[in-house]
Amino acid sequence: MNPPKAVCFENVSAEYRGIKDKNPKIFDGLDLNIHKGEKVALIGSNGAGKSTLLKLICGFIKPYGGRIYVCGEEITSKKPEETAKYVSLVYQNPEEMFIGESVGDDIEYAMRERKIPDYKSKALELIEMFSLKGLENKDARLLSGGQMRRASLAIGIALNPSVLLLDEPTANLDIATRTEVIEALNSICSKTETAIVATHDMQLVAEWADRVIVLHEGRIAADGTCTEIFEDEFVLEKVGIMPPEIYTLGKRLFGAQTLNPKEFADLFLREREEVLAI
Ligand SMILES: Nc1ncnc2c1ncn2[C@@H]1O[C@H](COP(=O)(O)OP(=O)(O)OP(=O)(O)O)[C@@H](O)[C@H]1O
Ligand SMILES: [Mg+2]
Repeated sequence: MNPPKAVCFENVSAEYRGIKDKNPKIFDGLDLNIHKGEKVALIGSNGAGKSTLLKLICGFIKPYGGRIYVCGEEITSKKPEETAKYVSLVYQNPEEMFIGESVGDDIEYAMRERKIPDYKSKALELIEMFSLKGLENKDARLLSGGQMRRASLAIGIALNPSVLLLDEPTANLDIATRTEVIEALNSICSKTETAIVATHDMQLVAEWADRVIVLHEGRIAADGTCTEIFEDEFVLEKVGIMPPEIYTLGKRLFGAQTLNPKEFADLFLREREEVLAI
């Protein structure tokens, strides 16, 4: 039996209001089920509809047709304030999440508004968890890119959402910060039930996701595990996506499906030992 549904789209249609009555249709009768506990990567080329899908899940935009359920409750016409107890979106641009005077204030904000008991000590825990100690009194907009990203993750999980949505969490980061963010993502995922990440970062997909959904022109072009998607040459070509280098290298050198540097290194060492033993 499948686990309960965290997100369910039934025949969802959505469009943006266009200029001169031309409303570009983004989704036309989309069906989608995401189950509790899944770590889903949403991939697809620019304009495929990834960010729009995340905004529909958290109620920031409304469909003109169909129904959307989050954690079993219909949220199709609910306001984002009402969906915030189940679902939270970490924006692609962290600066859009900073509305307070300081990092501490931004992290406390949603908990204070909802009168969560002990919100001060919860904020301190988050500051500790995301290595933001010493920065809590700074204006979040003045932090470095990586610090901003960590602060936005702390804000995103402050209300303990059952479903966490992240829009391109590793975009524009240097390698060290990217590694930090992936580690933070892994620790978040031990706290939150379900996570959906929209991304172009195939290495993040390979290292983190247990399910990959490929969007193409508002439709689901493919849906499977990382290896199923990376092996689907037809879809990759159609959507213009390349598997991460570690995967391609693993296949070419060893004929194996290596998803992260550790798997690759283990295989490399094993092959080397076998060669030395001959
Ligand atoms: N506010 C808006 N008003 C009108 N059209 C929009 C708006 N936001 C997005 N679109 C259009 O909706 C489509 C889907 O956009 P969306 O941002 O969801 O794509 P995406 O997959 O997130 O792309 P990217 O990888 O570039 O972030 C695109 O054609 C885009 O031009
Ligand atoms: Mg986007």
